[in-house]
Amino acid sequence: MSVRYFTLSVIVFLLVICACKDQQTAPAEIPAPPPEPIDIESVQTVLPQAGNVALIEANCVPCHSLRYIEMQPQLSYKAWEKIVNKMITAYGAPIRDSVTKQDIINYLYAIKGNKEEH
Ligand code: HEC
Repeated sequence: MSVRYFTLSVIVFLLVICACKDQQTAPAEIPAPPPEPIDIESVQTVLPQAGNVALIEANCVPCHSLRYIEMQPQLSYKAWEKIVNKMITAYGAPIRDSVTKQDIINYLYAIKGNKEEH
């Protein structure tokens, strides 16, 4: 066997070893399982139908469920004011009119107000 053939055989041998090694370490491809339907119960929150509830439905529902309001504890007037201000300044709730804003806060305080600490 000539030196050339010998060298060639060694290279081929090394390449085969490398290829096998790669195959061994390559992560096995696990096929994704087919998606299964999930039952998601929809939650419908109905706030007390009084006063300015329509303002809440018009101004708050575009971004999130009314459950965010329902879940809150009884809050002081100031705390509700702070939340509504946060919706406007931090999240961009389009409540431009100060009368509407006042009516919204009044409603929230009426249904979930901590009357002991105004
Ligand atoms: C422009 C979108 C937008 C509008 C409109 C909006 N909200 Fe929110 N609201 C948010 C986001 C965003 C959060 C925070 C969600 C989170 O942290 O997972 C939030 C959270 C809340 C929470 C949970 C407590 C808190 O302080 O984060 C309350 C209560 C709430 N909103 C009330 C209201 C009320 C009342 C209105 C209507 C006057 C309103 N939101 C309108 C975007 C909005």
